[in-house]
Amino acid sequence: MCGIFGYIGFQKATPLLVNGLRKLEYRGYDSAGICLLEPNKLKTIKAKGRVGELARKVDNEILPATIGISHTRWATHGEPSERNAHPHLDCQEKIAVVHNGIIENYQALKKLLEKEGHCFLSDTDTEVVSHLIEKFCLNNNFEEAVLKTLALLEGAWGLAILKAGENKIIAAKKGSPLILGIGNNEMFLASDASAILEHTKKVVYFNDGEMVVIDQKGFLTKMANGDIVKKEIQELKWDVGQIEKAGFKHFMLKEIFEQPQAIANTLRGRITDNEVKLSIDIDPASIKRIIMVACGTSFYSGLIGKHLFEKICRLPVEVEYASEFRYRDPIINNNDLAIAISQSGETADTLAALNEAKRKGAKTLGIINVVGSTISREVDSGIYLHAGPEIGVASTKAFTCQITALVLLALYLQQEKNAQIDKNIIKELKLIPEKIQQVLNQAELVKALANFIKNSSNALFLGRGFSYPVALEGALKLKEISYIHAEGYPAAEMKHGPIALVDENMPVVFIATNDQTYEKILSNMQEIKARNGKILAIVNPGDIRASQLANWTIETPKTIDLLSPIVNVIPLQLLAYYVADAKGIDVDKPRNLAKSVTVE
Ligand code: AGP
Repeated sequence: MCGIFGYIGFQKATPLLVNGLRKLEYRGYDSAGICLLEPNKLKTIKAKGRVGELARKVDNEILPATIGISHTRWATHGEPSERNAHPHLDCQEKIAVVHNGIIENYQALKKLLEKEGHCFLSDTDTEVVSHLIEKFCLNNNFEEAVLKTLALLEGAWGLAILKAGENKIIAAKKGSPLILGIGNNEMFLASDASAILEHTKKVVYFNDGEMVVIDQKGFLTKMANGDIVKKEIQELKWDVGQIEKAGFKHFMLKEIFEQPQAIANTLRGRITDNEVKLSIDIDPASIKRIIMVACGTSFYSGLIGKHLFEKICRLPVEVEYASEFRYRDPIINNNDLAIAISQSGETADTLAALNEAKRKGAKTLGIINVVGSTISREVDSGIYLHAGPEIGVASTKAFTCQITALVLLALYLQQEKNAQIDKNIIKELKLIPEKIQQVLNQAELVKALANFIKNSSNALFLGRGFSYPVALEGALKLKEISYIHAEGYPAAEMKHGPIALVDENMPVVFIATNDQTYEKILSNMQEIKARNGKILAIVNPGDIRASQLANWTIETPKTIDLLSPIVNVIPLQLLAYYVADAKGIDVDKPRNLAKSVTVE
């Protein structure tokens, strides 16, 4: 959840470093810094706040260096400040380190180093790395000193390191992402592809435990024991246009409107009129239980997945908050399938929960968006969403594509057991992109309805069956970008306490489309109306009964119940976006949040 960028080549490094950080700012943005390799010394510039603050500082300097590293931070240890901003240096200011992740044993290492006379300037965990390298450089060369340092570290890292007098960048990866862009006589190192795409599409992904020495001509990758690792150069499929906002005010709005195409991409090559085609290495007959581990929005798509696997495959399913699952010493059998759902593929809790299930013998599968991400390389099999980069901190297209991938997986498991699959699901699935477009065409109506909520302090989102997880997701969208406290509940649960919250000041959003719970939802709506709650209802076209009970309605096209979440969440995404935008909030970078939470 921090952003790292490094450059080594023939161009002036500073503008490239600053621009690279701008592309990575969604990963964290409370402070930033660069370090340049000048003849026999290092030049470091840092700033509290966003990358723009750093840019203002470097604009006042003459900086001809062509090698450098940089960092944009999301604080974990040590409050956001210039002092705690990366890069962090050793005592002699000859070694500079930028780091994404957490050094879990940093206190013990810091004590040991302080006893040996090292002076620390920051409160960060990262600073121990620069001092350890300094310590080992006394009797080793730069590369050996880094290897010895890595051997002592516990935790997670994506590291980039400079040493005065050495025309190279050394990088290392364990538990946090790191990717190398291969240019012509220049190299680009970054936390993810969004910062590399404009320079090159030739990339190398690194695995945990690898260290790489990078110079202008090339790179050499080694394992912790010094063994050389041969790396494959891959071609990035994303183009820069996918990254930029394509004319939308925010990445989030762009990504909401991308959903018809994103879902079409998730389906591409995986579905015909009669069958689902997935290249996953799982024997469906051996699966007796499914356990899904995820966080946040991805957890809610897992809740929908539970309905899907139970209905389509008649398999028992558990959906677990990854952060809870990983410490519970869960009971796992070797005929369990553990599914990790993660847009970024880097969420620390989800990765740890996956590894816990794997350690206990479960087969594993990932439903991931970011190609080459850590979780995608830990699982036995996986389904990439192919949704394209999701830059907005609030997840939108990843959610609907995750559900789409879960439908495909459920159908596939059933199909591969030589069981009949409901061809109508496939037929309806193919219509979903168009149905989403019909909802998107009502964006201006949703924008107008945003006024119904934007001055409220609280809101309730209610649904039943397939729509209950959609209510949870709608509430999360609203609270994480508009800062309005919102709760999602099973509609029938209101009478067990929460209905005490309802009065004329409580906006209530109902998902009231005509599914198997429709009659029950109508009575829940009446309970709210009787207490003067103001109701916005998501209904199907032509609906009369739910619409009569609501103050406002938004229509979503009818589809089969198990696909309804994909369509019904769209107005809730738009509602959250327009409320937050009307409140003047930077929707893509809401306070306190980062796009990928790579620490627990
Ligand atoms: C979603 O809007 C949030 N930003 C957050 O809950 C997110 O879904 C969660 O952190 C999981 O991220 P992942 O899908 O990348 O693992």
